[in-house]
Amino acid sequence: MKKTILITGGAGFIGSHVVRLFVQKYPAYTIVNLDALTYAGNLANLSDVETASNYIFEKADINDAAHMDALFAKYQFDGVIHLAAESHVDRSITDPLAFVRTNIIGTVNLLNAAKAAWKGTMEGKRFYHISTDEVYGTLGDTGLFEETTPYDPNSPYSASKASSDHFVRAYGETYGLPYVITNCSNNYGPNQFPEKLIPLFINNIKSNKPLPVYGDGKYTRDWLYVIDHAIAIDLVYHKGKNEETYNIGGFNEWQNIDLIKLLCTIMDKKLERTPGTSEGLITYVTDRPGHDRRYAIDASKINEELGWKPSVTFEQGLEQTVSWYLENQAWLDNVTSGNYQDYYENMYASR
Ligand code: NAD
Ligand code: DAU
Repeated sequence: MKKTILITGGAGFIGSHVVRLFVQKYPAYTIVNLDALTYAGNLANLSDVETASNYIFEKADINDAAHMDALFAKYQFDGVIHLAAESHVDRSITDPLAFVRTNIIGTVNLLNAAKAAWKGTMEGKRFYHISTDEVYGTLGDTGLFEETTPYDPNSPYSASKASSDHFVRAYGETYGLPYVITNCSNNYGPNQFPEKLIPLFINNIKSNKPLPVYGDGKYTRDWLYVIDHAIAIDLVYHKGKNEETYNIGGFNEWQNIDLIKLLCTIMDKKLERTPGTSEGLITYVTDRPGHDRRYAIDASKINEELGWKPSVTFEQGLEQTVSWYLENQAWLDNVTSGNYQDYYENMYASR
């Protein structure tokens, strides 16, 4: 079946894996990738599909409402998969307004454009909003986030994502906009910008730089390989129910310090360094303010209703991720040139 689908944030980490999957799996679809190409967006992530006949790139900012309306008029989208966002918690602590603008106002601009374009023809349309488990706040030592867990965001990033989730739901209730939302746990894998824990630490280990572990290092995250997230997004886009939320997670909780030690072991092997060399770079630094202690997802709903589960173990995924970063030095050099050194100095010098 022919469809035209808008994917926002398709030049970013998760978005590029979603764009690739849709372009390759659905040759009859037209995939329009809309991205502002902020520091986190990189068209090199999509060099293997950029000449595909069913792929179009539009450089645009979701904060520009008139441009969104024009693109909806131009392409007559059947569906939207909305990933564009400011995504890094530490940056949200230094510049919350950037997160309000893109994550809240940008999302409302897209909702308005979809509402206007689909007026009278909502049947078969779908607005799929990609969100995060961080909207649920933090867990104690036990328990899991379920779809019914009350929202309780703690960082400007998670507050902005929670707000955007509420707006999507409100447009469903108020205007009948057909929507679906997923809330996913921490992703890792190729093409992740080296501001997030795993790629930052891979890059630092390579360069023999300190590994800045926040607080006591006993914070827990539930890690999912990015391609498994992309597969889940495909499934929810095509088979999920309107007005539903699905939690997506890796069934894979790790305390940061244990994950970091595993990463160090893999890196020592790959770089043929004496075992223990990389662990010697671990440096405990000042904690992130408002740092959520533990995230863990109950992904049984998407598992039982749609048959999704992760396809790779963490050890396999982490090994593949390390190999990708070691084999793609040019990609790393490119994204760590320019403003990256300033960002790094500002973020870590005072810790
Ligand atoms: P990312 O930072 O790697 O990519 C974000 C993309 O959005 C970039 O390509 C950037 O250029 C684009 N973008 C930013 N502002 C824009 C704007 N104003 N207009 C148009 N494009 C803009 O992010 P990611 O890690 O790939 O996350 C993608 C989505 O998934 C986000 O909505 C995030 O909240 C959500 N999410 C991420 C994770 C994770 O672990 N990374 C987990 C759960 C949910
Ligand atoms: O849970 C989903 C979320 O996961 C996504 O919504 C976010 O977009 C994504 O950035 C991620 O948020 P986190 O804050 O969990 O990811 P980050 O990689 O920044 O940090 C992971 C853990 O590692 C967290 O406990 C903080 C810690 N950390 C992070 C960095 C960057 C460190 O100890 N040192 C660091 O230098």
